[in-house]
Amino acid sequence: MAVPGYQWASLLLLVGMILQSTTLAVGSSSPRLRLSHKELWHLNRTWAFDSPQGPLSPRTMLLDEHEERLFVGVRDGLFSLSLERVNSKHREISWASTAGQVDDCLMKGREKAECANYVKVLHQYNRTHLLACGTGAFDPICAFVNVGRWAEDGLFQLETSHIKGSRGRCPFDPNSSCTSVFSKGQLYVGLYTDYWENDAALCRYGDASFTRTEQNHRQQLNEPKFVGSVIIPDNDDPDDDKVYFFFTEKAADTEDGNSAVYSRIGRVCANDVGGQRMLVNKWTSFTKTRLVCSVPGSDGMSTHFDELVDVFVLKRKDEKKPEIFGLFSTTSNIFKGYAVCVYSMDEVRAAFNGPYAHKERPDHHWAAFQGRVPFPRPGSCASQMNGGQFSSSREYPDEVLRFIRTHPVMFQPVQPVHHRPILIRTDAEQRFTQIAVDRVEAEDGHYDVLFIGTDNSVVLKVITIHNKETNTIEEVVLEELHVFKVPVPITEILISSKRQRLFVSSELGVAQVRVHQCRLYGAACADCCLARDPYCAWDGVTCSRYLPAGISMKRRVRRQDVRHGNAIQQCNGMQINGGQLEKPEEKLVYGVEGNGTLLECSPRSLRANVVWLAQRGPDADEVKADDRVAQTPHGLLFLRLRRADSGVYLCQTEERGFIHTVARISLEVLEEERVEELLHQEGEAQHRAPCPLPGAPHSSTPRLWYKEFLQLIGYSNVHKVEEYCERVWCSNRGRKKLKSLNSKWKLSQAQERRGRTRVDHQRAPRHAPAT
Ligand SMILES: *[C@@H]1O[C@H](CO)[C@@H](O)[C@H](O)[C@H]1NC(C)=O
Ligand SMILES: *[C@@H]1O[C@H](CO)[C@@H](O)[C@H](O)[C@H]1NC(C)=O
Ligand SMILES: *[C@@H]1O[C@H](CO)[C@@H](O)[C@H](O)[C@H]1NC(C)=O
Ligand SMILES: *[C@@H]1O[C@H](CO)[C@@H](O)[C@H](O)[C@H]1NC(C)=O
Repeated sequence: MAVPGYQWASLLLLVGMILQSTTLAVGSSSPRLRLSHKELWHLNRTWAFDSPQGPLSPRTMLLDEHEERLFVGVRDGLFSLSLERVNSKHREISWASTAGQVDDCLMKGREKAECANYVKVLHQYNRTHLLACGTGAFDPICAFVNVGRWAEDGLFQLETSHIKGSRGRCPFDPNSSCTSVFSKGQLYVGLYTDYWENDAALCRYGDASFTRTEQNHRQQLNEPKFVGSVIIPDNDDPDDDKVYFFFTEKAADTEDGNSAVYSRIGRVCANDVGGQRMLVNKWTSFTKTRLVCSVPGSDGMSTHFDELVDVFVLKRKDEKKPEIFGLFSTTSNIFKGYAVCVYSMDEVRAAFNGPYAHKERPDHHWAAFQGRVPFPRPGSCASQMNGGQFSSSREYPDEVLRFIRTHPVMFQPVQPVHHRPILIRTDAEQRFTQIAVDRVEAEDGHYDVLFIGTDNSVVLKVITIHNKETNTIEEVVLEELHVFKVPVPITEILISSKRQRLFVSSELGVAQVRVHQCRLYGAACADCCLARDPYCAWDGVTCSRYLPAGISMKRRVRRQDVRHGNAIQQCNGMQINGGQLEKPEEKLVYGVEGNGTLLECSPRSLRANVVWLAQRGPDADEVKADDRVAQTPHGLLFLRLRRADSGVYLCQTEERGFIHTVARISLEVLEEERVEELLHQEGEAQHRAPCPLPGAPHSSTPRLWYKEFLQLIGYSNVHKVEEYCERVWCSNRGRKKLKSLNSKWKLSQAQERRGRTRVDHQRAPRHAPAT
């Protein structure tokens, strides 16, 4: 039988660790709430889809909010999942390479795991079909998937006629970086097009034409790693639409000869079909520049976060002006840090419309090009913007093509908003792998909620608040969600705003996670305000989803203060309708003299400072830690109890100036001999027959009794207690006896009590009720 509660030995061991972790946990980058995988499940906050036939290995996901499906490209197949519940009513396509293809792959010296068909490219092709491309056992392959016009059709079928010439649309290697975007019948893709990964390219595939970067043109691409891509209109003329690619690459010629890494934003015209005599099937509009994400140091030296890890483009109502969120890491081997920088399209366009970078001779420095720039401006599209003189890139003058070929780099980098990261992590115990962003309307403005995926299954939910006066940025980690059962890197995060959910993938599968669970913060106004979650507001009764005025039908009393979390101001006089704070949990705990005990109290908020008070008469004094008493995140730990420790203890939390008594615990310290004596007496009285255990010990009531009893004797003598309890549980009579034993105890102790108040024996749930 497992022993619930804490055992003495492990307790002692814990103390050191716990004391250490408290000092770490109060930092600003620590989450306010931490939810384990188990808790997320119990709270019905998450559902997961995984395959019974081993790891799913999702390589790409496609969200169709309209038809409420999530398409997932995996090893040797595709899944269509329900947005309502990913693990119900899924449909599956098996798309494995043939035995012959696998043999060929193995013959080339590849591993078995690599010689499968990993679907890495997946797009909505038209109203009825998806375009899917996989690695095809090191021989890329594309096909259409018929999903029908409506989700109700239930169609999910691979068209048998594969698309010819699929190479160049998907990499050969399942681990190879690759990014793609699809629009108006054109597939734009950044990838390594060949088996040996020598040829990196940005490509466009239309029905009958294609365009790409030049081969072995190191000024265009130099060993890139592709991170993301997006199509953004420049104006109302679709001919001016630009495709932006995000990637990192080796700096072609650094001044000091170091092999530095640059993060890049590159762009082409969506309608670029290449030149007529020169640059045939090559971009006539490709330019790129650096994405800067650095922190100015006090000594004038900046810390650079050079390596783009992931990018998220936050769409706005104005399609021309999305916001770009970049997740960066340092390239240093010694110091691993992460940062998030935000870029505005104004800054991006200013860089591309600015001067071209120019080098007079190879040994010269880069400078802004001062000479005459040909017309139409190199990098601009064949559109009305150029006076409509050119209906296609094929009509561009040679001079323009020659210029862009030699000047693909812009001189100005793109600087982030506020000229610094909005989030920095330098003490990272975990690596950041993914970012997704949701814009949320709140009472005091809008907030960008960042969801950051790590390499250990965690998704952090973070807001950052810019203070204009001090030009500082406050980072508020609202929640730390452990999405998968075991630590694995998060490989993708998609947001469904409509469903208020995340879809998170890792090697293990796909999990859906609700972006908010307001009730978790507690029902009181103060609990809700302290949470500072822009999704949540106190509605007069409880903490619930905040909806901007106009959306919510009747505007009730609403309290929310994301910017300051000022519960004192917001919740003054809000003690109506059950809005008052939860009553302190009241408990009676027994301890044995000379033994240890733990007064449990762990507030949900990790940001709350806990103060323990000992009530003596009308006054309450703070409990001082010493070699006998230690404060731990789980509660107040007595290492050796004395009779004089008996009394009432208050567990008080303080967060942002708001003070709240969470628990009121009465501690009774008993003399050791008397416990032994009683145990002995009662033990004798019972017959020694082995306990038949008719399921009773596993039901919840006896377990509580058991735990109480363990506590009663201060965790010592565990075997004796176990033996005793088993006997007691055998019969109702026994249980009654235990009860009477308990009350006998209370009676015998009553005389010694120094006018203490009666304490309820009930246990309040440790966690707030779930929604
Ligand atoms: C989760 O859902 C199940 C069934 O849908 C329900 O019985 C259970 O009470 C829910 N749990 C919570 C914490 O809401
Ligand atoms: C991809 O990379 C990972 C980690 O580097 C490695 O474990 C795996 O075998 C590689 N290949 C495939 C097919 O995933
Ligand atoms: C979508 O494209 C597929 C493949 O080319 C084609 O068979 C299908 O008819 C198209 N559907 C529509 C609605 O255009
Ligand atoms: C706790 O009490 C038991 C007897 O009930 C005793 O054997 C043990 O030594 C005590 N532990 C400590 C740490 O005093």
